[in-house]
Amino acid sequence: MPKRKKSFRFIDLFAGIGGFHIAMHENGGDCVFASEIDKFARQTYEHNFKSISPQMFENGNFNKDITDEELNYSKIPEFDILCAGFPCQPFSHAGLKKGFDDTRGTLFFNIKEIVKAKIEAHKKNSKVTIPKVLLLENVKGFKNHDKGNTFRVIKKTLNDLGYEVAAEVLNSKHFGVPQNRERIFIVAWYRDSVKKSEFKFPYGIDKDGMVIYDKSKRDDDAKPISVGDILLKNSELEKLEKKSNKTYTISEKLWDGHQRRRTEHAEKGNGFGYSSFNSKSAYTSTISARYYKDGSEILIEQNNIPGRPDRPRKLHPTEAARLQGFPIDNWYEIPVSDNQAYKQFGNSVSVPVVKTVASEIIKQLLN
Ligand SMILES: C[S@@+](CC[C@H](N)C(=O)[O-])C[C@H]1O[C@@H](n2cnc3c(N)ncnc32)[C@H](O)[C@@H]1O
Repeated sequence: MPKRKKSFRFIDLFAGIGGFHIAMHENGGDCVFASEIDKFARQTYEHNFKSISPQMFENGNFNKDITDEELNYSKIPEFDILCAGFPCQPFSHAGLKKGFDDTRGTLFFNIKEIVKAKIEAHKKNSKVTIPKVLLLENVKGFKNHDKGNTFRVIKKTLNDLGYEVAAEVLNSKHFGVPQNRERIFIVAWYRDSVKKSEFKFPYGIDKDGMVIYDKSKRDDDAKPISVGDILLKNSELEKLEKKSNKTYTISEKLWDGHQRRRTEHAEKGNGFGYSSFNSKSAYTSTISARYYKDGSEILIEQNNIPGRPDRPRKLHPTEAARLQGFPIDNWYEIPVSDNQAYKQFGNSVSVPVVKTVASEIIKQLLN
């Protein structure tokens, strides 16, 4: 990864394989603490980020479990931005009825406590930095999760800590990657240190690389892309298949199953089943952590390709990485099995989306 001049510090919680890390680093961020519990995601993370954030790994700041009771939040190095694509969990209604924010027992509680620890430390020593911006990411349905309660509690908790909150659903397909992936981004800024009344979300990137701020224009103005942009050439795929002695074409049995289920679903009048795409498709559906199971959400058609079966194939992990905007053709590497890689890219953020949001955070809120 190219070295950058560091202008702010960030922490990477629920770090996965570092989608936030890439985006923040490319905007001049220095990662001072990260946390990820999954053994294989940790492997990918360390493999790719050890050379750019060596101190973090050497100083024991690559935490495994953020709920670990031995982890003292006041010992987490000071930081300006907190990033977290955290799991979505309901809050306790019992506590809420009694008037507590009651995030206890959820992973959002740990985010809150980390921020709180820095605010408390600042009260004792004004030289300690209070986190200026929090950048949280979650599934699109998050706003309606538990009848809107989950989002309400999070907003109130952040407001009570002293933060203004803005949230918006962004779609990866408007940011130069051919994937229909809608995710909610929550940006919160500390009132006392960031004197801003609003955050203008970027809704996409146009063909000249300019940010689209007008939501109504994103479908028309976003840079045109197609699935062909992320696909390997057939010759490249064949070479990789030969080298690893495996095929990405799905088995006849799986293909029969997919087709049978589609017919059954169609008869019942619902739209579930597999989805297939070709190089001309504008975008794929969302890649999920369960992609490794049967690939049904994104199959690549292989009709009339000399030397290839007529059945569709799954994405190669390199294509899954490109679909999420990871710099796999430059420096990013996959040190784990295909199945782990699919899980990791399915769980991850689309890097170009976070990169654009991060750049706007720096422009609008940090400067
Ligand atoms: C939705 S993924 C986030 C992926 C990440 N944004 C990326 O770019 O790859 C959530 C991650 O939180 C991790 N996680 C869950 N519980 C955790 C815990 N208690 N401590 C640390 N990480 C945890 C999971 O292993 C998973 O990788």
